[in-house]
Amino acid sequence: MSKILVTGGLGYIGSHTVVELINAGYEPVIVDDLSNSSPKILDQITKITGHKPVFYQIDLSDDNEVKNLATAEPDITGIIHFAAFKAVGESVELPLKYYRNNIYSLINLLNAYYGKPLNFVFSSSCTVYGQPDVLPVTEKAPTKKAESPYGNTKQIAEEILTDLVASGSSYKVVALRYFNPVGAHSSALIGELPIGVPQNLVPFITQTAIGKREKITVFGDDYDTPDGSCIRDYIHVVDLGKAHVAALKLMEKNNFAGYDVFNIGTGVGNSVLEIIAAFERETGVKLNYQIGPRRSGDIVKVWGDVSKSADQLQWKAERGIGTMMVSAWEWEKYISNNPL
Ligand code: UD1
Repeated sequence: MSKILVTGGLGYIGSHTVVELINAGYEPVIVDDLSNSSPKILDQITKITGHKPVFYQIDLSDDNEVKNLATAEPDITGIIHFAAFKAVGESVELPLKYYRNNIYSLINLLNAYYGKPLNFVFSSSCTVYGQPDVLPVTEKAPTKKAESPYGNTKQIAEEILTDLVASGSSYKVVALRYFNPVGAHSSALIGELPIGVPQNLVPFITQTAIGKREKITVFGDDYDTPDGSCIRDYIHVVDLGKAHVAALKLMEKNNFAGYDVFNIGTGVGNSVLEIIAAFERETGVKLNYQIGPRRSGDIVKVWGDVSKSADQLQWKAERGIGTMMVSAWEWEKYISNNPL
């Protein structure tokens, strides 16, 4: 069984990917510093899969801890690197915190395993495209100057990995540019665990529906879109987890070039108002929402061209908006009764 190191493996996307790795016959080894996750997620993964992965609580920006990890786990065949901070607003306030955690940790990890033949999957984001000139956006579209240090860390990390592969290193790399991950596992045992007030749309919707928040504000309804609200390509987190397995499989093929990048979305855009309507329709719960001002820095509309992923990764999203909303809601009900 191939061992795969999963950094940030107790986080939202990490935990769903760990489950899909186990389902696909891999042996995940989880690394997480628990800065934005709960150790109880390990028990939840065990309940879902019947397998308890090895877990190391490690800060990847600590050189010694990472060296010790590489000594303790020398025979991994791949790394899926989720561990990173992701709050856009906080990254503007505390850029060094973001560059240290998202860039320095990446370099540290790559250094620790340098010289070994490893398949590396990097969590990138559609944020690298900014507001694309052409939609759906393809992987060939130019990247735009990042709007925040968070966005910049994704661009810089892609560049570091490109240079690393070009140098002839033994790493193979796939960068996955995620669109907007939402939803939760069908068991409702794992899902997104926002700390404090959620910044993202779907956790805010579910917390409003359950009564943790009084109402949700739609950030602007005067954009140049059919209903005036912003459009995103929402992707179910289980489909996203499966994309990482597909990325490993691609790199395991002998003819893989060494570096590639893929859009991971559904290829379909939905507006904020459509998401609210879908949530109400699918769950039967009415949402208290209001229209508010635009949020600074928001992209108006973005959705991905996912034909390259379909052709080369042999991966396609299978879960629609209905499943995304229902699973997010089931998870919200679960954690309200079983705080982790
Ligand atoms: C945001 C980040 C993106 C990052 C992603 C990580 C910004 C500008 N972008 O994406 O770089 O990769 O999170 O998860 O912050 N909305 C509301 N009301 C709310 C919350 C959101 O109307 O209470 C709207 C937003 O204006 C947006 C849509 O919902 O149009 C999705 O927002 P969000 O979930 O925050 O994701 P992004 O902004 O796309």
